[in-house]
Amino acid sequence: MSYQIAIDGPAGAGKSTIAKLVSKELGFVYVDTGAMYRAMALNCLENGVDKDDEAGVVDLVSKTDVSIKYIDGEQAVFLNGENVNGRIRTPEVGNVASAISVYGEVRRKLVDLQQKLAVSENVVMDGRDIGSVVLPNADIKVYLDAEVEVRAKRRYDELIAKGEDAVFETILSEMKERDYRDMHRDISPLVKVADAYCVDSSYMTIEEVKDAIIKGFKEAIE
Ligand code: DC
Repeated sequence: MSYQIAIDGPAGAGKSTIAKLVSKELGFVYVDTGAMYRAMALNCLENGVDKDDEAGVVDLVSKTDVSIKYIDGEQAVFLNGENVNGRIRTPEVGNVASAISVYGEVRRKLVDLQQKLAVSENVVMDGRDIGSVVLPNADIKVYLDAEVEVRAKRRYDELIAKGEDAVFETILSEMKERDYRDMHRDISPLVKVADAYCVDSSYMTIEEVKDAIIKGFKEAIE
């Protein structure tokens, strides 16, 4: 039996930063499921398939081979054999990922891949539906939250640090729109499961959040 740590929460709550640290400390594999939806979104953008055209998106997804490899301990997503990690971290790709992740066929393909990864490895997996759908029997199901203004400020600071143009109000309104869509879609919306281990990272340091999750996990497996 392998160990499973599920981390769900809205965009910008710090899931991937924390999941990476937790997996490093425990020696587990980190599975970033958002990167898989982003890769599919990039695929649509690069092939001129509109995010609102469900049939077109599903057709493209059915013809695309998606896989995961670990390069120097970092997860890389491959689309038809090509590593696309360098191209999926833009706000545009994030917004399209949120839009196409409402389609059942897109989710089925990626959930299947995610569940296969968790069978043989101890994993820390983050996303929106990990505790509710992908790994409902995880040892701990973390719901990592933060106030929307704090999350938007984090995204804004990240973009500015990368030397990109960013307008705080635009990021805030896009984030609210993304939260709404991720929480209200028909299939596998972001929910706080009944036995969620809730952490609000708004006024915590990264170290504090990491320690809280490791403590919760250790207590859960005792
Ligand atoms: O976590 P992220 O920002 O990289 O995710 C991008 C989008 O992908 C997110 O807005 C919704 C979708 N997603 C999802 O529906 N289910 C997941 N498990 C992970 C991401």
